[in-house]
Amino acid sequence: MTSVSPASQQAGRDAEFDAAGDPIGLFGRWFDDAKANEAELPEAMALATCGSDDMPDVRMVLLKSFDERGFVFYTNLGSQKAVELDQNNRAALCFHWKSLTRQVRIQGRAEAVSEDEADVYFATRSKQSQIGAWASKQSLPLQGRFDLEAQVAKYTAKYALKKVDRPPFWSGYRVAPLRIEFWRQRSFRLHDRRVFLRDNISQPDWKIERLYP
Ligand SMILES: Cc1cc2nc3c(=O)[nH]c(=O)nc-3n(C[C@H](O)[C@H](O)[C@H](O)COP(=O)(O)O)c2cc1C
Repeated sequence: MTSVSPASQQAGRDAEFDAAGDPIGLFGRWFDDAKANEAELPEAMALATCGSDDMPDVRMVLLKSFDERGFVFYTNLGSQKAVELDQNNRAALCFHWKSLTRQVRIQGRAEAVSEDEADVYFATRSKQSQIGAWASKQSLPLQGRFDLEAQVAKYTAKYALKKVDRPPFWSGYRVAPLRIEFWRQRSFRLHDRRVFLRDNISQPDWKIERLYP
């Protein structure tokens, strides 16, 4: 039996990180590691937006799918984030996986997913979550918890015996990446930063840079 020492495992990981030419493939490997190691919500990511008032805003959302086209999350289309993305579709995402001491930062353009794609995803949600999507006027003022519960009761009754349609005001965005930065912790704060850049979304090749930590 051949045993692999921690030093050679580290060397293997270093070589893989150094050789990576495809950021989506590297993201996929890191996301698999996060799913195997992170105690809670490895798919949680901060989403930063900046609307026409020029005031940046940030909140957590959940990554629901990703591929070479980009990174998808779902939300209410009347929410503050959606209003800001309508005004300015430049967006940034940030993952931090504490168990791995790794961070991934993504900048790009947010585009609406297709109606079909949103329908397919909505159908996978639990019925309570589907009703929750109807019940919430996300980001609008709420007088009291009772008002929200009344909305939940209304839609629970409406859909008691039938399939819940996707609300027309609920869908997804795909952040098509122009810059993806991978950061991993190294000793003495001499961390690794590897950046993949391209000028436009249709460009298949990425320019690769390293940055001082
Ligand atoms: C871990 C976590 C995951 C979340 N995932 C989502 C999500 O996928 N979609 C969503 O609309 N809100 C999600 N939220 C709630 C948002 O952070 C935010 O409160 C809400 O979307 C309203 O944001 P806005 O007013 O900026 O639009 C999540 C919150 C947390 C803490």
